[in-house]
Amino acid sequence: PNAEQSSVTKRNLIVVSNRLPLSVKRTEDGSYTSSMSSGGLVTSLSGLTKTTEFRWFGWPGMSPQEPAEQEKIRQSLGAHNAIPVFLDEELANRHYNGFSNQILWPTLHYQSGVAFDDGPWEAYKKVNEIFADYIADAAQEEDLVWVHDYHLMLLPRLLRERMAKKKRQACIGFSLHTPFPASEAMRTLPVAKELLQGLLSSTLVGFHTEDYRLNFVESCQYLLNARAQDSSILYKDRLVKTGRFTVGIDPEKFNDTLRKGEVQARIKQLNERYKEIKVILGVDRLDYIKGLTQKLHGFEQFLTDNPRWQGKVVLVQVAVPSREDVKEYQELETQISCLVGKINGKFSQPEYTPIVYLHRSIPFTELTALYSIADMCLLTSSRDGMNLVAFEYIACQEQRHGVLALSEFAGASVFMAEGTVAFHPANIKEMSQAINKGLTMSRDERTERYKKLERFVNRNTR
Ligand code: ADP
Ligand code: F6P
Repeated sequence: PNAEQSSVTKRNLIVVSNRLPLSVKRTEDGSYTSSMSSGGLVTSLSGLTKTTEFRWFGWPGMSPQEPAEQEKIRQSLGAHNAIPVFLDEELANRHYNGFSNQILWPTLHYQSGVAFDDGPWEAYKKVNEIFADYIADAAQEEDLVWVHDYHLMLLPRLLRERMAKKKRQACIGFSLHTPFPASEAMRTLPVAKELLQGLLSSTLVGFHTEDYRLNFVESCQYLLNARAQDSSILYKDRLVKTGRFTVGIDPEKFNDTLRKGEVQARIKQLNERYKEIKVILGVDRLDYIKGLTQKLHGFEQFLTDNPRWQGKVVLVQVAVPSREDVKEYQELETQISCLVGKINGKFSQPEYTPIVYLHRSIPFTELTALYSIADMCLLTSSRDGMNLVAFEYIACQEQRHGVLALSEFAGASVFMAEGTVAFHPANIKEMSQAINKGLTMSRDERTERYKKLERFVNRNTR
C-alpha cells in the first residue's frame, strides 16, 4: 500500500445475527462442542469468510449462568471469530419463539390470524437492547456493523443511540432475509411503527428482491410519513439508503464435495437403487412457509392424474426440524407425518413406496449426493425470502441437467423464472401438471433451461 492508503483507518466488519453460524452443545465431560447452524443466512454468508475478516456476534444456542461456563463457550467460539451474546434462557425463548417466530415471522410471510401479545414484545425489545450493549462496547469509530434478519429490527436504532452517547459515528447495514410484506399486512402488527423506526436508524437497509424493497419504502411512507427520494428514505432529517442485494451460494463448495470418493460412491449406490425410478427431491426446513402440505397434495394429485407413473417415481423429502418449541411447527409436523402415511398407504406396493420422508438433518455429503441424483427438485413455498436450496440443486446438476420446479412465491423465482418450471403453490392441479412437464421434458429442453440457471448461480455467488 502507498503512504496515502496506509494512513486510512482500517474499518473492521462486525456481523450480527440472532443465531451464530455455530451452535454450541455441552458434552458429557463438561466441555463444549459446536456444529454448523443450518439455514439460508449461514449459507449466504459462508462465501464471505473466504475473502473478508470479520467478527460475528450472536446467540450461541445456550446460555449457562455461571461465568466460568460462559468463558469456556467464549473460548471455544473465539477460535472461529464468533462472539457469543449470552441471554437468559427464558428471555431468549420469549424473544425467539414468542415474538420473532410466533408473531413477526408469520406477519412477514402474510399469515393471517396472528395474535399479538405484549409479553413477547417486551422480551424482543430487551434482547435487542442486550445486543446493542454488546455491539456498542465492541464497535470502534469507523467500524461497519452489519445486522441480519428480523430478530434484530430494533438494533440499528438502539445501537445508534448508544454510539451517539459515546460520541462515535455508526455505520450500520441491515439485511433482511425474509420477504418484506405489503404495508397493509405490515400494519396489522401493532408495533409496526417501532420496527420501521428501528430499521430507519440504519445507514443502508437491504432486501433480497425489488418488490420487498418497495414494500418497505411504502410502509415507511404510509405508517411513518417518511419521504421517498430515489432509492433512499428521508425520515426525521436522516437519509437512509435502501437497496436490493441478491444473496447466493458458494458453488465451489458443492463441486468439491461432489468430487469426493465417498460422495461418488454414494451417488453410484443411489443411482443403482433408483435405476428404473425417477427421483423428485425436496429439501426444506419444516416450516409452513415451505408449502409442504401443498407439495404432498400436489404429488398425490400427480399420481392420481397420471397412473402410469405409479411405481415409477418417488418423492424424497428432507424436512429439517426447525423451531420445534413453537406450537404451529409441532402441529405442522404431525400433519405432515399423517399425510405422508396416508399417501404412502394409498399408492405403495410391496416393492414401492412413493414418498421417502426424512424428518431430520442429514450430513452435507448426503445432501449433495441427493441433489446430484435427483431428476427434479420440487420447491413449493407459499412465501420465501429467497430459497437457496434452488441454487444448490442447480450447482449439483452439471451432469444430469435436472428440472427445477419452483413456486412463483419464492424470492428466487424472480431471478430464475426463465429456466424453471413455475407454478402457483396453492393450485394443486397446476403443480401436478408442472411435475408431469418436468418428468417428461426432453434432454434438449432440460439442457437449455439448465444452462440459464447455471449461469445465474455461478455468477451470483454471494
Ligand atoms: P431457509 O433460510 O428458510 O432455511 P434456504 O433454502 O434459503 O431456506 O436455506 C436453507 C439452507 O439450509 C440451505 O443452504 C441448505 O443446504 C441448508 N440445509 C439443508 N439441510 C441441511 C442440513 N441437514 N444441515 C445443514 N444445513 C442444511
Ligand atoms: O430464512 C430466514 C431464516 O431466519 C434465516 O435467516 C435462517 O438461516 C433460517 O431462517 C433458519 O432460522 P432459525 O435461526 O430459526 O433456525
